[in-house]
Amino acid sequence: MSQPCDRKGAPPALEVRQLTVHYREAPVLWNVELTLPRGVMAAVVGPNGAGKSTLLKALVGAVRPTSGTALFFGESFDEARSRVAYVPQRALVDWTFPITAFELVLMGRYGKLGLLARPSRADKEAAYAALDKVGMTSFAERQIGELSGGQQQRLFLARALLQEADLYLMDEPFAAVDAATEKSIVTLLKELKEQRKTLLLVHHDLTTVRDYFDWVILLSTCLVSAGPTEEVLKPELLSKIYGQELTLLGEVGRLSQQKTTGGKS
Ligand SMILES: Nc1ncnc2c1ncn2[C@@H]1O[C@H](COP(=O)(O)OP(=O)(O)OP(=O)(O)O)[C@@H](O)[C@H]1O
Ligand SMILES: [Mg+2]
Repeated sequence: MSQPCDRKGAPPALEVRQLTVHYREAPVLWNVELTLPRGVMAAVVGPNGAGKSTLLKALVGAVRPTSGTALFFGESFDEARSRVAYVPQRALVDWTFPITAFELVLMGRYGKLGLLARPSRADKEAAYAALDKVGMTSFAERQIGELSGGQQQRLFLARALLQEADLYLMDEPFAAVDAATEKSIVTLLKELKEQRKTLLLVHHDLTTVRDYFDWVILLSTCLVSAGPTEEVLKPELLSKIYGQELTLLGEVGRLSQQKTTGGKS
């Protein structure tokens, strides 16, 4: 069976076919079909309960789908595991566990090293560099339980960076961080994109989608639309999934329109 390919003939970063997930009777994801080209920075957008986190969890095997398949660079998740980094919405970590911020970040290398291998000097240097990139160097020796929510979030980003993956799945990475940190993380993620990495981020702030992302996936149990931001971020498609929140969306639509008609500052 032939697979959709990108321009160079390589399989796409992600290909989801007929993905359906139930927790109880009603499906929370229904027959989702999705192809994500390599090198895009994509936002998964949709209201609370739309199935965004469930989509990411199903992709990485944290939730068992009722049916459907996902291929990463043409391979199953198990085959492609070391090429995929996942940052959950609320990290399932025992924050009382006695390790430092630095040690938590260094764990990003275990996928490549194996749990029993000793990290090399280069691995440790990479961990410090990742901490530096998220502005957490001064917290390196802190116990993880002594950090704020936003600082913990930044640690998980640093850990994902250390994985040196080709596809980054991140569930609301900006949810707990301040505006300055968000800016520096966006810069960092755009750098990854420039290196032809693929990013798939759950994102709630509709006013920044156009600035941050070149690909958008609109989800509301079903896939409503997916493609280049310009094609998908349209008021009529947004109102389909947000329904009553039209006042806000009217504003977003107006801002989007302004930007496309040359009002970009
Ligand atoms: N473990 C679970 N057991 C039962 N139902 C669940 C479970 N996890 C999520 N759900 C339900 O599945 C639906 C989708 O949840 P999900 O967390 O994927 O939504 P989301 O789009 O990420 O929402 P949010 O924007 O609030 O993070 C919701 O209705 C939620 O209540
Ligand atoms: Mg969620």
